[in-house]
Amino acid sequence: MTSTAQALYLLAAVLFVLSLAGLSKQSTARRGTVLGMVGMAVALAATVLLSLERSSRPVLVTGVLIALVLAVGATVGTWRARSVEMTQMPEMIAVLHSFVGLAAVLVGYGSWLTAGTDGHRGDVVHGVEVYLGVLIGAVTFTGSVVAYLKLAARIRTAPLMLPGRNVLNLAALAACVALLAWFLATDGVVPLLLMTVVALALGWHLVASIGGGDMPVVVSMLNSYSGWAAAAAGFMLGNDLLIVTGALVGSSGAILSYLMCRAMNRSFVSVILGGYGVEAGTGAGPGAAGPAGEHREVSPADVAAMLAAARTVVVTPGYGMAVAKAQYPVAELVSRLRAAGADVRFGVHPVAGRLPGHMNVLLAEARVPYDIVLEMDEVNDDLAETDVVLVIGANDTVNPAALDDPDSPIAGMPVLEVWKARQVVVFKRSMATGYAGVQNPLFFRDNTAMLFGDARTQVEAILAALPLPATR
Ligand code: TAP
Repeated sequence: MTSTAQALYLLAAVLFVLSLAGLSKQSTARRGTVLGMVGMAVALAATVLLSLERSSRPVLVTGVLIALVLAVGATVGTWRARSVEMTQMPEMIAVLHSFVGLAAVLVGYGSWLTAGTDGHRGDVVHGVEVYLGVLIGAVTFTGSVVAYLKLAARIRTAPLMLPGRNVLNLAALAACVALLAWFLATDGVVPLLLMTVVALALGWHLVASIGGGDMPVVVSMLNSYSGWAAAAAGFMLGNDLLIVTGALVGSSGAILSYLMCRAMNRSFVSVILGGYGVEAGTGAGPGAAGPAGEHREVSPADVAAMLAAARTVVVTPGYGMAVAKAQYPVAELVSRLRAAGADVRFGVHPVAGRLPGHMNVLLAEARVPYDIVLEMDEVNDDLAETDVVLVIGANDTVNPAALDDPDSPIAGMPVLEVWKARQVVVFKRSMATGYAGVQNPLFFRDNTAMLFGDARTQVEAILAALPLPATR
């Protein structure tokens, strides 16, 4: 049976690699997801087989216990998957990362407690495995809980700037190294417990110190940490598949974090170290929230007239499009404008929305053709030649303060330079700030008009007011 389980583990690992390969392109993403699901089903089946074989209890008792656990997990999973809104996915993912972290901590303690019975007591390699597993797991756990609280807007998204925060982080790391030496020398629970407390505080502080605009990197970094925590648990449990899967998640999350840092002009090292070396971004500068001039309002009929006369249109979607579920009428509007001969494209910022690829998923859902969905860099140079830009529920990702105001919390982040277009229409419900809590000077520019209200309702009103497509 073991060889069957090992063969299934190998098959699952290959399916996970193929799944990641599929997820790297929009056109193959659906296939990638299916391969991942099949891989997980195979992995579960193999794990059940192995557990039945290795259990010291009668097979029936172990089987019933596993069935009970599977039933509880499947019920909770199905309930959450059905009830969670698409806009709550980032929080949900942060919660799932926290579970992986907590599991690694518990596996670590379990492994330490049973070290005497399985012959590992005093084994240095096993001691390091336990220590690292608990350390990474604890940092991931509290880091993910803070990420959840920030993403769910339960705590302020602004960075926590404790005095001497870099020294605090370094002191925590130094304490963990010293406690490792103590733990290996004595194999006692006291250094392990002390390190757990320090690591829990470190995880909390590292993520709390990161500002709202940099949260995307934190989310993918925690994804990476959760992978390493799973790999560490794999070493402790002697489970090869968990090691492989953890390493895949850990390394792909690290690559994603690096790419996001590059896209956002942030230092990777600085973000991993809880915003090390970043002193701007307190939100107290001129870029902070607060009125910054007069804005101009337009009606859906005005926008329809503007669009009917436009030859080139760029749509820049943001988190508000997801909240309003406006992607469907937006797709219809784009299709009607294109049918009338206009050149219409989407410009997607790498951190628009609340998840990597969030906007691409929504637009694919609404069947927008992939070839008109462009990345920020592909569209930025063309904006000066664009007649109308429709900013649908985006805010931070189109904020000129990122380029003009060195004191802004989002200073240095590349943005969609929509203000260069002839006319800009911003769809949102109020003058409220976006995720980073920064006022947006775009709203007060002469060529910007505000269309207030729910984005879906307003796009539908534009569709109703739009003259029938005419051939140009
Ligand atoms: P945001 O800056 O968050 O702005 C979204 C805007 O949508 C808000 O200003 C809001 O204004 C508007 N809105 C909300 N509901 C709406 C509705 N029903 N109809 C119309 N408008 C609505 O969005 P963004 O430009 O996409 O930027 C993303 C931000 O999230 C960045 O700061 C990014 O760093 C951060 N973030 C991203 C990620 C990833 S991985 N993408 C993860 C975590 C954080 P009103 O309230 O006035 O309507």
